[in-house]
Amino acid sequence: MSKNNYAVNLLSQHIAIFSCPVCHFELFINERSLVCRHGHRYDLSKHGYIHLCLQAARTKYDKSLFTARRMLSRAGLFEPLAEAVATRIGKRLEAVEEHDRFKILDAGCGEGSHLERVHSLLQQNAVLPTPTLGVGIDLAKDGVASAAKSYKELLWCVGDLANPPLASQQFNVILNILSPANYDAFHRLLCKDGIVIKVIPNRDYLRELREALWEGRGQSFSNDRTMQLFREHFEPVEVQRVRYTYPLEPEQVLPLLAMTPLAWRAEECKLNHFTTHPPTGITVDLTVMTGSKR
Ligand SMILES: C[S@@+](CC[C@H](N)C(=O)[O-])C[C@H]1O[C@@H](n2cnc3c(N)ncnc32)[C@H](O)[C@@H]1O
Ligand SMILES: [Zn+2]
Repeated sequence: MSKNNYAVNLLSQHIAIFSCPVCHFELFINERSLVCRHGHRYDLSKHGYIHLCLQAARTKYDKSLFTARRMLSRAGLFEPLAEAVATRIGKRLEAVEEHDRFKILDAGCGEGSHLERVHSLLQQNAVLPTPTLGVGIDLAKDGVASAAKSYKELLWCVGDLANPPLASQQFNVILNILSPANYDAFHRLLCKDGIVIKVIPNRDYLRELREALWEGRGQSFSNDRTMQLFREHFEPVEVQRVRYTYPLEPEQVLPLLAMTPLAWRAEECKLNHFTTHPPTGITVDLTVMTGSKR
C-alpha cells in the first residue's frame, strides 16, 4: 500500500479525532481531502499528513533544523528521555482501568522522533493491551512532512496549538516536549483520566554549547515560571529529572549546532571556535513533569 493510501486508511479509522479549525465541526474524508459540513476543505499531502492550519505559518524551525534533530535523535541523543516518558505512561496505565483505545498526542512534535520512540517502546514492552494510536501536531510544515515521510504508522498534522484542530476529550496522554503549551486546550483535549507529560530544559541542558556561545553575555536561565504555570493548570503526579552526558562524535558537532535555537544569533567567531574545539560530550538535562486534570 502506498504511504498516501496507508495514511488515508489510518485517517478514516480515526477521523473523529480531528475537527475543522474554522467552525470546529467534525471532518469527513472526501477522496484525498477532509471536509466539514460548512465546506471548509483541507488536503491530504502526498506524504500522508493533513494540513489543518488556516494559513501557512512563518517559522524559524525549518528543514535543516529538523534534519539535524532527526539525525541526533536517531543516534540516541534523547533515548533516556524516551525511556523515562514510556515508563511514566506505563505506570499510569497500571493505575487506570479503561484504556482500550489508547491515544497519545504529541503537541509540538517537530520531526516526530520522540513520539515514534515512545510509541515503539510502549509496543515493544507490550505495556498496552491494544495498539496505541499516536498523533503528532506542529505548526512547522517541514517537521510534520519529515515525520509523515518516515513514520507512517502514526498520524501527523500541521496545526496551531493556539487553535488545535482536534476534537475534545480524545487523548489519554498529551506529550509536550521542549515546545510551547496551551493548557486550556490540553484540558479540553484530554479524556477524564488523561495526563500531560511536559518536558522542559534545565539550566544544564546543552551546557557545553550554552557556555561556548553565551557565557559572559548575561543570559540568565530559569524555568521556575514554566514549572509554576504547569502546576497552576494540572495536578502534579510526578516530577522527574533526566540528566546524562551524551558522547559527542565529531560528525555530530554541526548537527548539534543546527538542531537548536541556542545557536541562533550567536557570534560567528564563537560558533567557529565551538566547531574547531568541540567537547567530547554534551549534557542533556531535562525535567519531565507529569500532571493530571484536577
Ligand atoms: C524546540 S522545537 C521541539 C520539537 C520537538 N518536540 C523536539 O523536541 O524535537 C519546538 C517546536 O514547537 C513548535 N511550535 C511552536 N509554536 C507552535 C504552535 N503555536 N503550534 C504548534 N507547534 C508549535 C515548533 O514548530 C517546533 O517544532
Ligand atoms: Zn468548517
